[in-house]
Amino acid sequence: MAKRRSIVGSRSAAGAMAVCTYRREQPMSVSTIDSAALRRAMVDQLADDHAAKGLTLRPEVEAAMRKVPRELFTPGLPLREAYENRAVITKRRGEENISSVSAPFLIAEMLGQAADALGGLRGRHVLEIGSGGYNASLLWELVGAAGSVTTVDIDPDVTDRAVACLKAAGYSDVKVVCADAEHPVDPGRRYDLIIVTAGAWDIPPAWREQLTDDGVLVVPLRTFGMTRSWALRRAGVGLVSVSERQCGFVPVQGDGAYDVQYVDVADGVHLRLDEGQQLDSRSLDGLLETARQEAWAGVSLPPPTVLANLDLWLATRIAAAGQEFVVLTAQDAAISSGVVAPSWRFGTPAVLHDDGTLAYRSELRWTGDAFDLGAYAHGPDTSAAAAAAGRLVEHMRAWVSAGCPAPALHVLPAQTPDGDLPAGTAVDKRHSRIVLAFTSEGRES
Ligand SMILES: C[S@@+](CC[C@H](N)C(=O)[O-])C[C@H]1O[C@@H](n2cnc3c(N)ncnc32)[C@H](O)[C@@H]1O
Repeated sequence: MAKRRSIVGSRSAAGAMAVCTYRREQPMSVSTIDSAALRRAMVDQLADDHAAKGLTLRPEVEAAMRKVPRELFTPGLPLREAYENRAVITKRRGEENISSVSAPFLIAEMLGQAADALGGLRGRHVLEIGSGGYNASLLWELVGAAGSVTTVDIDPDVTDRAVACLKAAGYSDVKVVCADAEHPVDPGRRYDLIIVTAGAWDIPPAWREQLTDDGVLVVPLRTFGMTRSWALRRAGVGLVSVSERQCGFVPVQGDGAYDVQYVDVADGVHLRLDEGQQLDSRSLDGLLETARQEAWAGVSLPPPTVLANLDLWLATRIAAAGQEFVVLTAQDAAISSGVVAPSWRFGTPAVLHDDGTLAYRSELRWTGDAFDLGAYAHGPDTSAAAAAAGRLVEHMRAWVSAGCPAPALHVLPAQTPDGDLPAGTAVDKRHSRIVLAFTSEGRES
């Protein structure tokens, strides 16, 4: 029977949300600090950050973000903090963050995904799942008077607050509903866009069914324990991806809630297990104290390379080889003390072998402006650990040789027979069969 230890529910999505790419604006004297100046500095930085990632901040998204005062949706927070590029936690349950005003960079990227997929949002009818008011008011600016925005939240504290904040900001015609959005919000009504702002593990049928025939769902969806914001276009009984971005969110609650478990590997180092995944954690005792083996891919990549895509590639390759894919998370202290050196402390792809070897994607190795990809491994048998690190970098080389492809995602109903699934790696959820595929072109749609 698998044994689980140290269950900590709040480190994953909540931790990832704290990742901040926004560098503070140049210091201003107190007299010059005002909402408009802080907002300008924030949006200037968002545009720079988009460019650094090889993305474009769409002009209408930029204009909306320059217009809506974020501080009206973060009452009680010092003005300057309302314009930091991070999520503002508004509700906790125990150690777990369950509601927030989302980080501006993530909001901008997801609105961009939606607008790209639909060719603009003007006149569109939008359902936002997960309220707060800030994103709904930006959506209102984007859809204009001919469109509509409905926002739904499961938590009456959140909807009460959203109503008050939207009124204060002058967006009273956003419709606010308190309900579990796992189920149809306004039965019979369909939307051009459903944008989910809580981390989901599955796609309930209601989300697809409430879309217009060519409508778009933007959703932070967890596959292989890693969350990406997917823009998915409705395609008959299924959905097909258009784009994806790395992200982290507070989890979906209610009937769509899912289980996340953390297993200790060492002090401050954990393996995050996906719903239904079980591990015998006895083999992990003292594992990271064994000699570290390493291997390098011998590649030279530029910074805009999207390594979040590599991580999904590794998950599919490890799963296809019948091995145990796990996600490693680490606290700062474990990294600074040299216990681990993962690629990303909030979620690093790793593989746990039957012989007790753990291999994970390592920090990058930089030479000038380019980096190499590597793997570190620990295990009771040194040569087995060296071989495991070598196999992991083989998968990385294969991804680079394939042109660093992006994943494509298909979502089909749970009863879809194997023979009707597209090529790729299938992941079975409660309501859907999700297929992740990589093409050398990077995109199937
Ligand atoms: C990150 S917050 C939303 C942020 C917001 N969109 C904003 O403008 O910043 C996520 C919200 O999702 C809500 N939520 C979680 N599960 C839900 C469900 N099943 N139905 C509706 N809302 C849900 C939570 O109560 C939480 O307030």
